[in-house]
Amino acid sequence: MKKQQLISTVVKSGLWLIAGFAILSVAYQPTTAQTPDGSFHNPLNTFEGADPWLTYYDGFYYLSTTSGTSQLYMQKSATLSGLKVAKQELIYAETDPSRCCNMWAPEFHLLDGPDGKRWYFYYTAGTNGTLDNQHSHVLESAGTDPMGPYTYKARIFDPANDGYSIDGSVMQLNDNLYFLFSSWTGDFQKLYIAPMSNPWTLSGSRHLLTQSQYSWEKVGLNVTEGPEALQHGDKTFIIYSASFCATDDYKLGMLTYNGGDVLDTKSWDKSPEPVFQRSDENSVYAPGHNGFFKSPDGTEDWIVYHANDNPGDGCAGKRTTRVQKFTWNADGTPNFGVPVSITTDITNPSGDTGNDPLPQRLPVPGVRFASFADPTKFINHFSQRARVSKLGEPAGDFEFVIREGLADPKAVSIESKNHPNSYLLNRNGNVWLAQFDGTDDFNTAATWWQKPGLASPDALSFESFVKPDAYLINVNGFLNVKAPTTDAEKAAATFVMSDVKE
Ligand code: AHR
Repeated sequence: MKKQQLISTVVKSGLWLIAGFAILSVAYQPTTAQTPDGSFHNPLNTFEGADPWLTYYDGFYYLSTTSGTSQLYMQKSATLSGLKVAKQELIYAETDPSRCCNMWAPEFHLLDGPDGKRWYFYYTAGTNGTLDNQHSHVLESAGTDPMGPYTYKARIFDPANDGYSIDGSVMQLNDNLYFLFSSWTGDFQKLYIAPMSNPWTLSGSRHLLTQSQYSWEKVGLNVTEGPEALQHGDKTFIIYSASFCATDDYKLGMLTYNGGDVLDTKSWDKSPEPVFQRSDENSVYAPGHNGFFKSPDGTEDWIVYHANDNPGDGCAGKRTTRVQKFTWNADGTPNFGVPVSITTDITNPSGDTGNDPLPQRLPVPGVRFASFADPTKFINHFSQRARVSKLGEPAGDFEFVIREGLADPKAVSIESKNHPNSYLLNRNGNVWLAQFDGTDDFNTAATWWQKPGLASPDALSFESFVKPDAYLINVNGFLNVKAPTTDAEKAAATFVMSDVKE
């Protein structure tokens, strides 16, 4: 495009020049900040952080979360915040088709086995292609290392009621071991308890522990699941997750043991109100499926749980792992408080000298990218594919945040405004919106060199970090990555950025 044509085009398109200077002149404010020493921010991961189990043992924290696959993983770190960058170590992979798939709700408990203390790793798994065959399983470690190696030990079930069984956990009370789990009966997913003769065998049938009875336990579906024993002084509690996990109102309830027959539901008094739930003020939704751990010096009690950043994020990979300290009320019951915001500086557990290895992502106003070639069309994402089309709903699909480049802070990465931690990513020449996974491949494919527009220096073009001379480009309404050669292609690879008025 000749210079004269270019000027007339820019002038003809009205405000682009002003908008361009106004926008381009905005020096990119840092979009991250370092957390103060001795503190960290939630979450501990940015995807697939559901149903977390976290414990501190022999100088290290260990964390495992729902994988949803045929593999189980464990992370190990000397500091709590170090779990954010700790490698996901594979500790078990299953090939038996009867229990191959959909692995959920990992928990690992150090219990007395026939050859001494062993880690018993409880988890839920089923068959490929369906969730109807989810059952409770347990692995046994070779020694006392939580990293394993592990061997498959058993499927845990009550022969008289052998069916759907998830979220298995164990509780030691009155010198006995009990298995806690959740199962459907009619329209209710109920909590059950059964006695155990050893960490992998039930010694009696299951008994009802509780089922949804209050409205706050019935949001979406009548669900009580994720039972977790908590003991303090002479009191024993079972903290459980209530309501459908895909709703924002997934939350924690509490049963208090009143001293009767442990297997009798009447021995467990239910709190009429939830004990931990969403905080719209802190942008924490669907907090639940928790665990408990102690600080390194054993003086503090902490809760680990999963939650979503946004309403409607559902019961899938967007659930991330969060932790916070909790206290005890005068009556001996736990006080979990309110789920803290991801912008809160959380002081390390007592005895933990770590510093947050990741900078905090600051809230940054959104921007839109209009096509220079057709100002009525904007970059957006639809079913994870990046497109260039007319503005539509949800408006958030057309809004992005420019962050420091994941592969090079001098470059940029383009994060979705309504899907935090998801970035525009080059995948074989097509651009997708993909959730950050911490790998180098992701970081390089989601990093771009921001340059003056190929069709207008007052606009912008984005050159691939991994493929020099290839740019983000509109091809028939889809965002691709290729080297523009014609004036039309240069215009299709040129975009005008504008702030989104909050
Ligand atoms: O996250 C997978 C399953 O979803 C968990 O095991 C259960 O608590 C929830 O229903």
